[in-house]
Amino acid sequence: MSTATMNANPALRAENVSIRFGGVQALDAVSISAKAGEITALIGPNGAGKSTMLGCISGTLAQNQGTIMIGDTDVSKSSAQKRAAMNMARTFQSPQLVTELTVREHVVLAARAGKQVRAGKLATTGRFVLDLIPFISRGISKAEIASADELINELGLGRDKDKGPSDLTLGQRRLLEVALCLATGAEIMLFDEPSAGLDRAETEHLGRLIQQLASERNITVVLVEHDLELVFAISTRVFVLDFGKLIDSGTPAEMRASKAVQTAYLGTTEDE
Ligand SMILES: Nc1ncnc2c1ncn2[C@@H]1O[C@H](COP(=O)(O)OP(=O)(O)O)[C@@H](O)[C@H]1O
Ligand SMILES: [Mg+2]
Repeated sequence: MSTATMNANPALRAENVSIRFGGVQALDAVSISAKAGEITALIGPNGAGKSTMLGCISGTLAQNQGTIMIGDTDVSKSSAQKRAAMNMARTFQSPQLVTELTVREHVVLAARAGKQVRAGKLATTGRFVLDLIPFISRGISKAEIASADELINELGLGRDKDKGPSDLTLGQRRLLEVALCLATGAEIMLFDEPSAGLDRAETEHLGRLIQQLASERNITVVLVEHDLELVFAISTRVFVLDFGKLIDSGTPAEMRASKAVQTAYLGTTEDE
């Protein structure tokens, strides 16, 4: 199942994607691509269409026009669950967690889900973990706890592993969603503003972790991020959206110097 994406280059492509919500053209013929082993960033002011693009890529939103390719497979019309089964995982800007489960239980479930997905057995929802509650009743083995705890510690959530989502800060909930992507063993990971709510040290730690993911595990990472310092530090290629249009793309150095990017950011009330 996963091999379809392994050798493809680029691993992920969105071509000429357009989507409209009522009177809002949220994306207007936007094309981006991402390679395995690299961090591809998607930036732009609030409302630019970044989260919408992640929705079109992951299949939680249906674009009006355009093509989504995972490796050589056209998934434009595939369900979110089909795309998840092609080893794609994502986080949400508003984390989608289960109130009744602890941090550790979430991670254990996500790891089980990943195994099921790779075995071709699991039909997930577009949200990937929300319908996994039945798995919890089987009890958790020591081995599952050990590998979950390793991941939880790696994400800096060690002291919070027995807490439920409502006892976490928003930043911690976002970190937990990153942990879930990791636990599933996905090859393509889409992160929606994972650093929002984290302080500088936590953000830098997360950045290093995402970099390791990409370089050591050859993961394809698409990073939507407000923190431009983080983006410029860890990404290979940057795509810039403004009002639903791709206004520029290039290396971090090129985008740092881009007049179009400066204008887009100066034209809003955001100061990042
Ligand atoms: N489900 C939706 N219904 C209506 N409008 C939406 C919906 N999702 C996003 N939008 C609009 O589409 C535009 C892009 O939104 P979004 O992708 O969330 O931007 P970003 O993530 O870059 O801040 C915004 O104008 C937003 O209000
Ligand atoms: Mg967004």
